[in-house]
Amino acid sequence: MFAEALARLPAQPEPTPKSEFVARQNRLTSQFRSDDVLILSSPPHAVHSNDVEYPYRTSSDLIYLTGWTEAETVVVLRCTEKGWVSALFVQPKDTLKEIWEGRRPGVEGALSSYAVDEAYGNDELEDRLSEWLTDARRVFHRGGINPHVDQLIQTAVRRRDRARQHFGTGPVAVEDPSGMLAELRLRKSSSEIDQMVYASKVAAIAHELAMRHSREGVTEYQLQSVIEGFFSYAGASGWSYPSIVGCGENATILHYTTNRDVCGDDEVILIDAGAEYRGYASDITRSWPISGAFTDAQREIYDVVLEAQLAAIEACQVGNLYTAPHDAARKVLAEGLIRLGVISQSLEDSLDMESGELKRWYMHNTSHWIGLDVHDAGVYKPGGEPRLLEPGMCLTVEPGLYFGAWRPDVDCPERYANIGIRIEDDVLITQDGPVVLTEDCPKTVEDIERIVGRDLR
Ligand code: GLY
Ligand code: MN
Ligand code: MN
Repeated sequence: MFAEALARLPAQPEPTPKSEFVARQNRLTSQFRSDDVLILSSPPHAVHSNDVEYPYRTSSDLIYLTGWTEAETVVVLRCTEKGWVSALFVQPKDTLKEIWEGRRPGVEGALSSYAVDEAYGNDELEDRLSEWLTDARRVFHRGGINPHVDQLIQTAVRRRDRARQHFGTGPVAVEDPSGMLAELRLRKSSSEIDQMVYASKVAAIAHELAMRHSREGVTEYQLQSVIEGFFSYAGASGWSYPSIVGCGENATILHYTTNRDVCGDDEVILIDAGAEYRGYASDITRSWPISGAFTDAQREIYDVVLEAQLAAIEACQVGNLYTAPHDAARKVLAEGLIRLGVISQSLEDSLDMESGELKRWYMHNTSHWIGLDVHDAGVYKPGGEPRLLEPGMCLTVEPGLYFGAWRPDVDCPERYANIGIRIEDDVLITQDGPVVLTEDCPKTVEDIERIVGRDLR
């Protein structure tokens, strides 16, 4: 069923080489003092019901530094006489558990296939931490991810209370390393871009398949299954965030994930869905008429949003403020709504964040960083000033207009009642201008009208 679509995808990229993980660790430790210790832990499993757990996803920082994705893991970076050493604490081999739950790489697998100097069973964590924190001054650790590891660190630090008092040794501070890691993660390497390109191409084709499968009477969950089915078929690990599949008034609910309604012929469907591949996210939104032909009213809104999106993508240039795409999109959206008679204010007044009318119909930001997290790490305003775009940064561009006739807070123009349009692509910043990673996904009116319902005709 998906074979023809799969044939249009490139081969899956090479995994990130070990040497790159080593380089990432070195970039981080080069910012440390020799008596600093970094401790990163994986989150615990989450319960779905009774003894059933949700599919496991480890922390993005852990993937970034080691590529290791198994549960119950801690990575420690510390400095010894030989220099910086990385240690991974993992689930030890256990035949009985492996019979039930699956094979474990264990200590041997960690050492042979991952960029770590040392590996231990996680049952050794408490003793090793106690030893390694003896002479540490600062412990870099983000609390709140794994309460068990938080507790071990607290205990290990507290054990040093006497030493601190008597000899002045032992940790004096526990600091959050997230900001340092975020700064590294913000600029993507070519290997990371390879993974993101694949995640983007998978999601682009998945959206096209959903377009082809759309017609009156199709349900939101059926379109969701087409999209997510193709994610798996193409080798993605699944979605990078729960798929938003909303027709009619549901398209005007920004993070609608119920996905249970039947689609009507006169409705627009908005699908916001992205694949995750080797931990990397894609994030695409497309909106199309279920009938396969835009009504005049639907087309008026679609044209404005598409013009705004193209202007915002054009603003994704090296040296521009990261807010440039948002400013560009807002201006085009406001001009469009003034032209259509939806906004009666002047352009300047309509853009005012307090009293401007634009925010009634466009109430979210245009961009967020994307990478290992769909809303990726990276401070937007370091020191309070908007960041300038640099090569290697990746962000989404996702303007929209939402006319929820159900909303009690505004008078929705009748002509546009329950039209919700968002168009979202993922963009890589380069010296040569923006590269749209998700460009394979149809978005012109002509392409959409040609494709919607094609598989059902
Ligand atoms: N899918 C959530 C977002 O677009 O940010
Ligand atoms: Mn999205
Ligand atoms: Mn997004």
